Order: sequence, then structure tokens, then C-alpha cells
Amino acid sequence: MILIIHRCYSTMSHNILITGGSGYLGGDLLARWDKANFPPYGKLYALVRTDAQAEAVKKYGAVPLSFNAKDEAAVRSAVVENNISVVYYLIDPLHFDAPSHFIKALAEVKKNTDREVHFLHTTGAKLFSSHAGAPNDKPLFDTDPDLYNIQKSQKTPHEMMRIGVETNCSIIEEAEKHGVRSYIFAPCIVYGKSEGFGNPLSKQTVAVVRAAVALKHVYRVDTGKPTWPVCHVADNTSLYVELLCKILADETPGYGKNGYYLAASGSVAWDDIYAAMATALAKRNIIPDDRVVTANNEVLEHLGQALGITKELVPVTVGGNCTFTAARGEKELGWKPLYKPQHILEDADAEVQRILEKSEA
Ligand SMILES: NC(=O)c1ccc[n+]([C@@H]2O[C@H](COP(=O)([O-])OP(=O)(O)OC[C@H]3O[C@@H](n4cnc5c(N)ncnc54)[C@H](OP(=O)(O)O)[C@@H]3O)[C@@H](O)[C@H]2O)c1
Repeated sequence: MILIIHRCYSTMSHNILITGGSGYLGGDLLARWDKANFPPYGKLYALVRTDAQAEAVKKYGAVPLSFNAKDEAAVRSAVVENNISVVYYLIDPLHFDAPSHFIKALAEVKKNTDREVHFLHTTGAKLFSSHAGAPNDKPLFDTDPDLYNIQKSQKTPHEMMRIGVETNCSIIEEAEKHGVRSYIFAPCIVYGKSEGFGNPLSKQTVAVVRAAVALKHVYRVDTGKPTWPVCHVADNTSLYVELLCKILADETPGYGKNGYYLAASGSVAWDDIYAAMATALAKRNIIPDDRVVTANNEVLEHLGQALGITKELVPVTVGGNCTFTAARGEKELGWKPLYKPQHILEDADAEVQRILEKSEA
């Protein structure tokens, strides 16, 4: 009898909720879902905000759910009534309100079903960079057993960064308190066309191009030659997939204070990204030449206007030093990115073309 009960639990499937399915990263994840070869699971749900999104996610076999992620009662009823035991959160790296609602709701599912429940939070490599007060004079591994304490002690002048770092820590603490397994998943500079139905483009590459188009030059915003981790969108998705495979197989990939996952194949210098994009823009006569010029105070002001941000946030958006280094994905999940870091430079011409086409559309 005991054996039968045990079997019932171990074969009880997870129901999964994906958020941000209309976005760049979440869209790519949904589009590659079919080929992911996941272990058996129950139902796939996708959080949507429009009827068109609801129709789109159905094509990937997802059941659309429409609710306000910032409303605790709405989150509770969506998660508990649908017995959702895995939430992939891809909609906001900064604020803690929605993640805390999901964590509490997952804890209730755990109580009802007596099985492990999982919350994945998508943060950003920026919160492990110079901008957020992270150490950046040597590699900062995502497997560093002290990473949670490092995050706790980070000091930054940027309010936005402070909030994001606090949120990463609060998620780990709240999840631990409620017996939920949390994962802090960090995309970096992601590039390449998303296969998703919604946003096809990433963020930082778009900002570099938008700024150059407006000011007719590509500008560097730092001194020295700072570097940043990079990742093709397909590889970013495959890390989401590998982690989910382990979760669905009821294995125990690192979680909580040991649950940081950076999706990066390696790092490149911003200067090399600027140069590759400048070449692509000059070739199309969008800028007069492919020189990369160091921005002075006045230029930073103009760059801020072009990007719709303050002067102070320009280096945060298109520069900075980040020595965050991926190790956990390969070590714990056997994740192997397909694209070498230099591929972002080889792909810069195509990326610029995609960005220009989208801004004309
Ligand atoms: N792309 C990168 O290179 C990168 C790097 C580091 C971190 N990240 C982080 O990763 C996450 C996903 O990035 P992304 O590039 O896919 O962003 P994105 O293309 O801007 O997509 C954001 C997604 O979140 C949804 N969303 C936003 N607010 C929501 C809300 N209140 N309720 C429900 N859904 C909401 C959007 O839905 P709608 O379509 O309805 O607006 C969209 O599906 C973000 O948190 C981002 O900051 C991305």
C-alpha cells in the first residue's frame, strides 16, 4: 500500500506556467517547446494579456490564463485552482510584489499536493555588474557559494539596480521560508531573432543602434575595455529548457542560495560590439563612418535623450563591466551553448538589419 502511494506521488505530473510568452525570451521558449523533449508533465499554461496572445499561445499547446500578476488573490486562484507547481517568471526583473504572490501560491500547492514546487525568476546580468556594485576585478562565477552574500552586500548609486538586487535576495529568502525551490536565472546581452510570436528583438543591441541612428555615431561610454557576457537567444532558451527538464524529472538542480544560473557562452568587449555595429551601420550609410568615439558629458546628455533615459543611466544601458561567468548550467545541467561568444560580432550585421527593419515597420 505504501509503495502504491509513493508511486502515485512520483508519477504526479507538474503543471507549468510560463509568463512573458509574447516577449523576446518567453516567445522563443514557447516556440522551441515542441522540440525540447521534456519529460512528461501535466498541462502547460501561459499568462496572457490580450485575446490575440491567448490565440497565439494555444498554437504551442499552452492553455492561456489571463490575470493580474500584481494582484495576490488573482495569482493565488490561478496557481492553486490549476494546481500549478512550476512557474517561469519572465516579465520584470525588478519588483518583488508579483514574485512574492507566486511563491505564496506555490507554497499552497505544495501543501495540497505534498510535492516540490518551483519558482524561476528571470533577473539580468546587470545586477551582477559594476553598475550594481558587484565585484568585477575577476570572474564572478554563478556557482560561487557566496553569491547570495555578495548580492546582499552590494552597494550601488542606481536606485533601479538596488531594487533589482534586493528582489533577487528577497525571492530566495521568501521561497526558502515557504519551502519553494527558487532559481535566479540571469540572461545577459542576448542577441539573435526570437522565434516567438511577439517581440523579435532583444534590448541592449537595440539601444546601441537607436543611439547611433539618433546621434550619427557609435559612442563608447566607458574608459578601459570593459566586457560583458553574451548569449544567442537559442542558447538562452536551451538553458531554460535544460533546467525545466531536471525539474520535471524530479531531480534536484541547485536552487535557493545555490540556484543562480547565468545564460552566457562567454564574454566580449563592448568596444568590439560597438565596432561591429558601427561597421554594419556605416555600410548602410546610417552613420557617416565606422569610428567608435568616446562620449563626453554633452554627448551622454544627447544619448540619454535619444534613449529616453537620464544621462546617468546611459552607461548602465549600453556599457559597464560585468565579470559574471556561467558555470552552473554546464556543471549541473550539462548545458552546452551552440554559439561561441564571438558569434555576436559575426552576427552584428544581421542583428543591425533586423533592428532597422523593425524600427521602420
Ligand atoms: N532580452 C534580454 O537581453 C534580457 C537581458 C536581461 C534580462 N532580461 C529580462 O528578461 C525578461 C524577459 O525579457 P524579454 O527580452 O523577453 O522582454 P520583453 O520582450 O520586453 O517581454 C516582456 C514580456 O513580459 C510581459 N509583461 C510585462 N509586464 C507584464 C505584466 N505586468 N503582466 C503580465 N505580463 C507582463 C510582456 O507582455 P506584453 O507583450 O503584453 O507587454 C512580454 O510578454 C525581462 O524581465 C527582462 O528585463 C532580458
